Amino acid sequence: MGHSMGIGIQYYEKQRIFKLDTPHTSYIMAVVDDENFLGHVYYGGRLEDYDVSYLLRTQEKPSAPSGNNRERCSFMDAFPMEYPGHGLGDYRDGCISVRSKGGHSAVNLTVTSHKIYDGKKKLEGLPATFGTEKECSTLEIECEDATLGLKATLMYTAFHDVDAITRSIKVTNMSGEEIYLTKALSACLDMDNKEFEHISLHGSWARERHIQRQPVGYGKYAVSSLRGEPGHQEHPFLALATKGAGQDAGEVYAMNFVYSGNFFTQVEMSQYDSVRMSMGIQPEDFCWKLEPQESFQAPEAVLVYSAEGLGGMTRSFHDLYRKHLLRSPYKDKKRPILLNNWEATYFDFDTDKLIGIARQASKLGIEMLVMDDGWFGKRNSDNCGLGDWQVNEEKLKGGLKYLVDEVNKLGMKFGIWFEPEMVSPDSDLYRAHPDWAIQIPGRTAAMAREQYVLDISRKEVRDYVYECVAKVLRSANVEYVKWDMNRPLSDLGSSGLAADRQGELYHRYVLGLYEMQERLITDFPDLLLENCSGGGARFDPGMLYYSPQIWCSDDTDAIERLAIQEGTALVYPLSTMGAHVSDCPNHAIGRTTPFETRGYVALAGTFGYELDVTKIPQEEQKMIPEQIAMYHKYNDLVREGDYYRLASYQENKVYDCYEVVSKDRKEALVTYVQVLNSSNRRSRHICLKGLKADAVYRVEGMEGSYLGDTLMKAGIPMENFWGDFRGKLVHITAL
Ligand code: DGJ
Repeated sequence: MGHSMGIGIQYYEKQRIFKLDTPHTSYIMAVVDDENFLGHVYYGGRLEDYDVSYLLRTQEKPSAPSGNNRERCSFMDAFPMEYPGHGLGDYRDGCISVRSKGGHSAVNLTVTSHKIYDGKKKLEGLPATFGTEKECSTLEIECEDATLGLKATLMYTAFHDVDAITRSIKVTNMSGEEIYLTKALSACLDMDNKEFEHISLHGSWARERHIQRQPVGYGKYAVSSLRGEPGHQEHPFLALATKGAGQDAGEVYAMNFVYSGNFFTQVEMSQYDSVRMSMGIQPEDFCWKLEPQESFQAPEAVLVYSAEGLGGMTRSFHDLYRKHLLRSPYKDKKRPILLNNWEATYFDFDTDKLIGIARQASKLGIEMLVMDDGWFGKRNSDNCGLGDWQVNEEKLKGGLKYLVDEVNKLGMKFGIWFEPEMVSPDSDLYRAHPDWAIQIPGRTAAMAREQYVLDISRKEVRDYVYECVAKVLRSANVEYVKWDMNRPLSDLGSSGLAADRQGELYHRYVLGLYEMQERLITDFPDLLLENCSGGGARFDPGMLYYSPQIWCSDDTDAIERLAIQEGTALVYPLSTMGAHVSDCPNHAIGRTTPFETRGYVALAGTFGYELDVTKIPQEEQKMIPEQIAMYHKYNDLVREGDYYRLASYQENKVYDCYEVVSKDRKEALVTYVQVLNSSNRRSRHICLKGLKADAVYRVEGMEGSYLGDTLMKAGIPMENFWGDFRGKLVHITAL
């Protein structure tokens, strides 16, 4: 089995070795000892040799149990276990634990059989990467804990065209009694520490996904969420990079979770200087009851190894997600340039105001009007009305269809905002169905933004809300939906679940969300869906399976966005980052930046506007057609190209610079923004990346033409700008 180039998956029976190969990486596991432990042998740069099981150190003390069961605990505590169990001598944190009928928590999984096939199966009810039989191969390793009667299928897919491996696990209760699953992580890597540094993405509302890097030390360091969504604060991404690894060199091991709920990542360094890197559903508050024969499918984790530093890792994630995760008909297309009325009007709008904005926007070349929060029920502020998805005809005189038709007559598309998962206490829906909100009997549930979370783990709640959304979409020519979610979960209690299943609520909520979004894009296949969560609290690969773009942050300030978009683009393609030009002083932080710079920064994402075009100064209005022309000129390149980070304002404190290079390396676009304005500086030279060394290029604004080699080694000049927060785009084309 495998690819003709040697890419794919092989099992070497004599040595009991599994080898997974992507174009530049290998992943090796071995079945060892009479007990069939599954050891993690190697993950890294591509190896031709497959039998490198000396890396498992089974000849060293503490040796395998069949040779020395007297020191079984020592073996368990040192062995690099592929999917470590719990409670049987390995004192590092494992991947799986249970509560059996007898009240015990221990698990030990050993191999019973395996199968290898081309392609990749869907994960039932869950988002996941996909690929054809030519594009990937899959390995399923069956393991069991015979004492418990528990079966676990470890699933691995190796992609043939991207250096990425995905993992997940399915657990089945083969016993005659119920088993409660209290932990079921999706991926784990045990390996020697190589002076690793831990890289993760952290933030807050309007300050999402800032990169944090720190050395790995002894003990455990976890990054996780208990908010029912990843949250603004933490992110389901984790990388271990060798000390000092930069954009171009150094090794990086990265994991990203295809999941939109509570997640858990951890790095643990042991007494033997090995590290255990793990990722999965947050075990806290997770308890899943498995009746006999029932299964639990854990979500997918994506693993990327790069020997070309963080840049190599980023490009693998981008390629994987563009080819093997995004499904929308828009994924490979320019997105309509939208104008969203949130920062333009907030709740203060009506049909006339929106048509006035649309009329002016259409003249400037804007292609879609998106009507944000406040068009339904009695929602004139954020303290009421969620759940009452009937058009407010006092605001929208003539109804939704009239408004949409008028906007369409201007040659523009129309989009609309929903927050389907929420309910306001002051709403007809809540008055009719108070038990539909997530809450614990006997406690007054905590509000956030004066709203509650609907219990979409319940089918009747999902069906009701979905039908409300669908009815609105059927009533007019709505071509875009922004699906928002403005508070995290709390007070976990569901009136639809028995006492011994309340620990399933967090995950069932996410499954309910996925089911609703799948229904939406199936029933409305041409719809452009943009996810959002109070800005970017649910920007994860799970949501990208349903929507090709996600609103990155409620902070639209061009300078703040540099850090947010740098962190986001570390993992996610530029085409997925919702980014708009907004008015100044910026509504989130009060800063004023040049209109041009706001345009450059938004051009790195989906591009759109979030302002009242009838109110901004004439000179800014005049710049909109120029920005739109730039979008049309560069968006194919930005959406499809290879991303290179050239400089980070977070590190140098002076300027930010990134580049996108077309796959054929005939074209590149550099975005430069100078953040620090200080006097008496000369120009600086920015070395480009990703060009063909022997191709000749012309650089916009420079006389003559130069070899790619020169531009990459010697760089292009970038002036020291006069004035605050100025920048520019530089287009490079091969002759
Ligand atoms: C949060 C979103 O991020 C904003 O863009 C806007 O849609 C508001 N919610 C509306 O309440």
